Amino acid sequence: MTRKILVLPGDGIGPEITAQASRVLAACQARGLDVEVEEAPVGGTAYDLEGSPLPESTLAKARAADAVLLGAVGGPKWDKLEDISKRPEKGLLGLRKELGLFGNLRPALLYPQLAEASSLKPELVSGLDIMIVRELTGGIYFGQPRGIEERDGQRVGYNTYVYSEAEIERIGRVAFEMAQKRGKKLCSVDKANVLEVTMLWREVMERLAPEYPDVELSHMYVDNAAMQLVRAPKQFDVVVTGNMFGDILSDAAAMLTGSIGMLPSASLNESGQGMYEPCHGSAPDIAGQGLANPLATILSVAMMLRYSLGEPELAERIEAAVSKVLDDGLRTADIAAEGAPRVSTSEMGDAVLAAFEAL
Ligand code: NAI
Ligand code: MG
Repeated sequence: MTRKILVLPGDGIGPEITAQASRVLAACQARGLDVEVEEAPVGGTAYDLEGSPLPESTLAKARAADAVLLGAVGGPKWDKLEDISKRPEKGLLGLRKELGLFGNLRPALLYPQLAEASSLKPELVSGLDIMIVRELTGGIYFGQPRGIEERDGQRVGYNTYVYSEAEIERIGRVAFEMAQKRGKKLCSVDKANVLEVTMLWREVMERLAPEYPDVELSHMYVDNAAMQLVRAPKQFDVVVTGNMFGDILSDAAAMLTGSIGMLPSASLNESGQGMYEPCHGSAPDIAGQGLANPLATILSVAMMLRYSLGEPELAERIEAAVSKVLDDGLRTADIAAEGAPRVSTSEMGDAVLAAFEAL
C-alpha cells in the first residue's frame, strides 16, 4: 500500500533543509520505497499565505499522512503579531495536539568525527548514544487550572502538574519497548521525593517492569539526572520522563553532542503515526544563505523510516551515508573547526546522496 508523507517546510531555514531531506526521500523512492510525498504550508509562511499558522487544509493533510516531516517555524517577522493564536509556534503546538503526538524521541548521539565539538572531554562522551523519551502532550505544560490572578492583594501565578495513570502507562510502554530494541537499560526520571504526581509515575513504571523482564529499570531524581548527564553521560541508555523534565534534560543532552544542526527527533501517537523534525529552530540569522546544516533533517527522515514506515534498512543506509560524509571531512559552518573549509546546505545534500547511492 502506498503510504503518504507530508512535508511541511515552514519558515527561515526550513525550506532549505527540507529540500535536501526531500531529495533523500526521493532516493529512497528510487530504491522501492512506496510513498506519495506532498508539501503544505505551516507556521509564519502559512500565516502570510492563508492567515493561519495551521490552515485547515494543512491539518487535514497531516491527519491523512502516515508521517509528517517538519522543517522549523518562527522568526522575527511574526514575533510582533498581537494575536498570539496566529503565531507560527501555534502551528507546531496545534499539530502536536491535533495528532496526539505524546511520545517524543530525542536521541543524543555523538558522531566520533565531531567529538571535539562536545562541551565535555572526549573520553566522557566518545561513543555516547542516549535516547530520551519525553512525554509531550501532558504534565505541567498543559495541566489545568493555570493562570495569574490576584489573591489577598498580590498577584500569584500557578500551574498544575498532572498525569493520569493511563498517560504514564502509554509513555512508559514506548520507553520499555525502545529499551528492548537498544541496550536494555531504562532510567525513569522523576521527583518522587517531593511531587505526588511523580510518585504515581514511579509506581506505574514499577508496575510495567515485569512485562519487560529483559529491561533493567532504574529511577533517578531529576536534579541528580541533570548532574549525572554532565558527569558521566554514558551510564544512560534510554531515559523516560515527563514533559518539563524532558524538555530540559533533552536540551542538556543535545549539547553533549556538540551541534544542534545534527539532532533529529520524532513525535509519535498511539497509532504509530509520527512527526519528524530537527531539534533546532528556523535559524533566521542564517536563513536563505545556504549556510544551514541539513543533516538533522536528513536524520529525521531516517527516524521516520524506522519508526513510522517500518524500513529500518533504508534508515540505516541514510545514517551510514551521513557518517560517511563526516568521515570525508565535509562540514557546514556550524560543525566546522575554526578556519576549516565549509560546504553549503546543498553541497552537503549532494554528498549525502552520493554516499547513499555508493553504499
Ligand atoms: P535556532 O535553533 O533557530 O537557532 C539557534 C542558533 O543555532 C542560531 O545561531 C542558528 O543559526 C543556529 N542553527 C540552528 N539550526 C542550524 C542548522 N541547521 N545549521 C546551522 N546552524 C543552525 O533557535 P533560536 O534562534 O532560539 O530561534 C529562532 C526561531 O526558531 C524562533 O522564532 C523560534 O521560536 C523558532 N524555533 C522553532 C522551533 C521549531 O520549529 N521546532 C524550535 C526552536 C525554535
Ligand atoms: Mg526546549
